[in-house]
Amino acid sequence: MASFEEELKNRRTFAIISHPDAGKTTITEQMLLLGGVVREAGTVKGRKGNFAKSDWMEIEQKRGISVTSSVLQFDFQGKRINILDTPGHEDFSEDTYRTLMAVDSVIMVIDSAKGIEPQTKKLFEIVKERHIPIFTFFNKLDRDGRPPLDLVDELESTLGIDAYPMNWPIGSGQILSGLFDMYHNRVEVYHPEEGEERFLPLNAEGTDLATENKIQLAPAWDETQEEVEMLKDAGNTFDENKVLKGELTPVFFGSALTNFGVETFLETYMQYAPAPSSKKTVDDKEVEPDNPQFSGFVFKIQANMNPNHRDRIAFVRCVSGEFQRGMDVTLARTGKKLRLSNVTEFMADSRENVDTAVPGDIIGLYDTGNFQIGDTIYAGKKKVEFEELPTFTPELFMHVHAKNVLKQKSFHKGVTQLVQEGTIQMYTAWDSGDYILGAVGSLQFEVFQFRMENEYNTEVVLEPMGSKIARWINPEQLDPKMASSRNLLVRDRNEQPVFLFENQFAERWFKDKYPDVELEAKL
Ligand code: G4P
Repeated sequence: MASFEEELKNRRTFAIISHPDAGKTTITEQMLLLGGVVREAGTVKGRKGNFAKSDWMEIEQKRGISVTSSVLQFDFQGKRINILDTPGHEDFSEDTYRTLMAVDSVIMVIDSAKGIEPQTKKLFEIVKERHIPIFTFFNKLDRDGRPPLDLVDELESTLGIDAYPMNWPIGSGQILSGLFDMYHNRVEVYHPEEGEERFLPLNAEGTDLATENKIQLAPAWDETQEEVEMLKDAGNTFDENKVLKGELTPVFFGSALTNFGVETFLETYMQYAPAPSSKKTVDDKEVEPDNPQFSGFVFKIQANMNPNHRDRIAFVRCVSGEFQRGMDVTLARTGKKLRLSNVTEFMADSRENVDTAVPGDIIGLYDTGNFQIGDTIYAGKKKVEFEELPTFTPELFMHVHAKNVLKQKSFHKGVTQLVQEGTIQMYTAWDSGDYILGAVGSLQFEVFQFRMENEYNTEVVLEPMGSKIARWINPEQLDPKMASSRNLLVRDRNEQPVFLFENQFAERWFKDKYPDVELEAKL
């Protein structure tokens, strides 16, 4: 049995971000294959009709998209990997953002024919703000892609991060012959024939093959050599510290579908991806993972993952100490004591009851309504409370009510639970008390409506209010007379006053009229 310290050192917890269709599912599947968890390609996501194991909800299956984030755990080369899946739909949601609060590093998968797409850019901004190390994989090299120099250039200029190519493609599409692997000083041959070597050593200068090989006759070889020379002369220098601060992204190329370059990527990634990090508390102290006192925080709540069991699971990222099944913890927000006996962990092929977990692991607590997103739990007497998870300023709003007035009770129950889960944000109109839903992406409304019908048996009517600019106002400065048709006054779920401005013009007008009033946006 590995000791706590060894276990801790071996954890790697990360998320994969990408634009839909860039190949996130395919690369995840290849990683599971490498980890020996699944034996056949196509197990995670069948070519058509089957859906990834992470596709829990019916809505996902209907639309063939992944709405919710899931967790997969497997072992690779002595390390235990936790992958937190992030929804890849164009219309992303807050769920994705929060998942990024629970990882130590991020893999960014980009389609090499398309380059950086809007969804990836948005997700990247969150990653950058948190200074999370980020590793880039340009996928689909088996297809004709854009010139690699263009891709790297775009990566640096669009995302404002320095890039360091670890390997470089020798052609793409029809003429793909391999990867010039500067990091390992070798060439990795694309689909070597029987008896052919997969890895060919480079000479001491790292400029040419050490022994003659037919790859030197490949159509793209000369160009690749020139480009690699250029990168060595004029490119960034590798700096592990910068990688760890999220200022430099190591860049890899490959083709997930044909399982080319994924193993090399994963191996190198494992060398640099950080072990579980510390986390800040409300009083600005860092809780280190090797602190023996168990603590963790809830980053996601999900109900009804399995329609046969009406279960609700709070996903907890373990921050410090060792979790043991049956242990007593305190919920920092309420002071309530809880015994954690019904706890699940997420292996790639099943959900299993967990006995122990260490920092970096994600455990699922069966919840009867105790938890909220952002909650801290801790064992022992010394109170631990982590700083709040960021909340996001919604941009889209809808009035909501139950279609059938007799369904008020289940309507309230559904709304309360889904809001607690963070599916959607809820506001009430200051005067009338009418319910208003707010979301970052419009998919959140669809998910809300679908789940209200399917899980709470309540049809809801949603009336679009369009996009608004939400600004929190200091309650002491509030005068309800400040509200008008162009700046609607509402309460958030913590009873705090918020103005919903119709547009920037309305916000500016308000600021001119009340120059001393403080208005605040969330993330
Ligand atoms: P996602 O999770 O990021 O949305 O992407 P996913 O892995 O589902 O891949 C999207 C499509 O791209 C899939 O094809 C997949 O087979 C293909 N793909 C992934 N990696 C590669 C690659 O390296 N090369 C090539 N040529 N294609 C790749 P699809 O036709 O949309 O899905 P399916 O019908 O094959 O399942």
